[in-house]
Formats: sequence, structure tokens, C-alpha cells
Amino acid sequence: MTVVEAVQGDITAQQVDAIVNAANSSLLGGGGVDGAIHAAAGRELLEECRRLRAGAWPDGLPVGEAVATGAGRLPARWVIHTVGPNRHRGQTDQALLASCFTRSLDVAAQVGARSVAFPAVSAGVYGWDAAEVARVAVSAVGDWLGSSSGTLELVRFVLFGEDVCSAFAAELP
Ligand code: APR
Repeated sequence: MTVVEAVQGDITAQQVDAIVNAANSSLLGGGGVDGAIHAAAGRELLEECRRLRAGAWPDGLPVGEAVATGAGRLPARWVIHTVGPNRHRGQTDQALLASCFTRSLDVAAQVGARSVAFPAVSAGVYGWDAAEVARVAVSAVGDWLGSSSGTLELVRFVLFGEDVCSAFAAELP
């Protein structure tokens, strides 16, 4: 049985196997979660992302996709980068946002992570309403877990702010 929980906190401090980064397609860093993760992980994370751009993802990571790297100086072993839909660019398809969560869980399972922490992807710079992100994210994770082999022990939503945390807590079973 996989534990699914929502907590207030900083995703860079989570003692889990993999933390999910709310990245952009360049994979070369940014603000918000992306900036915090790169700052805490250190330069080697950026260097690994640059290698991804030179290799598997020359045109950048598409919206809704996910890819794992090491985690540098972070407590986690892996960072799973995903690119959320940007409402300011008219990317309002909930399936794209759901894919950020399900593809990240696919990648987590592929690398053998037993615990995964997610931020509220797209609920910041990318302009999605936190309550809508909570609904899509919890539903997508629940569906994925329902059809998985059960190797994952913990999925933790790590939220900034009382209101976002309440929005996720309200969606949890
Ligand atoms: N830990 C947990 N949550 C955080 C943290 C953190 N350290 N920092 C920010 N957040 C929250 C934000 O408050 C928001 O609720 O994560 C959510 C996602 O916000 P963003 O990081 O802005 O992510 P997103 O909306 O997906 O926008 C991605 O922003 O930082 C750039 O490079 C990034 O271009 C990309 C875009």
C-alpha cells in the first residue's frame, strides 16, 4: 500500500529517494522550485542537465514529459525533471498536467525510487490555479498507483503556503 500525503515545506529538504522539479523545457534552471533545486544540488546538476540537452533531449524536454538526473548535494538520490503546461501560453489541457505526474512516476519506477516528492507543478509561474492542480495531480497519482505493481512506498506532495497545502489535503482520500 503506497502512502500518499501532503505537507507544507521545502521540496529541497525532503528525505526521499526522488524529488520532482517543476522545470522548463530548457532544463537549464529558472526560478521557483527549479531555482531552489539547482541552488541546493549544486553545479553538477546543471552540468548533467546540459549533457541531457547535448544527448537525449537536444530540443529540450516537452511539456508533460519527465527525465531523471542525479541530485548533486541534495538529500535525495534523483531529481526527476518535468515541464508543466504554462497557462500564460494557452496550455490549459489538464491531460498535459496529469502527464507530468504520471510520467514522473514512470521514471521513478524505472530508476527504482521507493519514495517521491512532488511540488505543485504549474501552480506558480505557469499560472495554474492551485486547487485545479491539486485535483489533477491527486487524481493522476491515484490512477497511476491503481495500475502499478506497488513498488512505490510513498508519494508526498510538498507545498509552499497554507492555501496550496489545504487544496491538496482536500483532494486526498
Ligand atoms: N519547495 C516546494 N514548493 C515550492 C518551492 C520549494 N522550494 N518553491 C516554490 N514552490 C511552489 C510555488 O509556490 C508553486 O506553488 O511550487 C509551485 C510551483 O511553482 P514554480 O516553481 O513557479 O513552477 P511552475 O509554476 O511549474 O513554473 C515553472 O518557473 O521557475 C520557473 O524554471 C521554471 O520556467 C519554469 C517555471
